[in-house]
Amino acid sequence: MKGNIVLGVTGSIAAHRAIDLASRLTKSGFRVNAVLTADAQRFVLPLPFKTLTRQPVVTDLYDEEEGWRPAHIRLADEAQMLLIAPATANCLAKLAHGMADDALTCIALALNPAAKLLIAPAMNGKMWLHPATRANVATLRARGAEFIGPEEGMLSCGYEGLGRLWPVDLLAERVEALLT
Ligand SMILES: Cc1cc2nc3c(=O)[nH]c(=O)nc-3n(C[C@H](O)[C@H](O)[C@H](O)COP(=O)(O)O)c2cc1C
Repeated sequence: MKGNIVLGVTGSIAAHRAIDLASRLTKSGFRVNAVLTADAQRFVLPLPFKTLTRQPVVTDLYDEEEGWRPAHIRLADEAQMLLIAPATANCLAKLAHGMADDALTCIALALNPAAKLLIAPAMNGKMWLHPATRANVATLRARGAEFIGPEEGMLSCGYEGLGRLWPVDLLAERVEALLT
């Protein structure tokens, strides 16, 4: 096992690409625990993540496994990386402000300090360039988060612009480089 990755998936139309990412990282030897926000589950189901990663998927803060330790604290302790792909504007705002109202944001706050935080945003270009998002990105970078992407191109909202999720194979390569 190369290391433990918590893969946070948020409510973007690009969420389906996280399934491929989860599969690639698992095949290359990482333990991948997917954590889906409630909005992510409007776009993708937990089942492909569970099957491809061979790990339980966290879909709710109050989903408790056997044992006394909350799943989100255990995952936060054990992770070498929290990878959020795709990360919505909403998620960036919550992380920048230290909110903790779901499993993913609780994990981000409880993450062990040695773990890396790698964020791959995906959103409409105006959302990405909005001063509020720029400020949230700057705050997170100043705290040590690494951003990868977004890239320019045709967006699913119908606009051309900067906001596409970084290609999955390049995301997987960056994870490999950071963790091995
Ligand atoms: C069809 C559709 C696509 C969306 N795509 C995105 C997206 O790519 N990026 C984004 O920041 N928000 C997107 N949103 C809005 C988010 O789903 C919304 O802000 C949600 O509250 C995010 O929740 P989460 O960050 O907890 O997952 C989209 C909404 C809809 C209805």
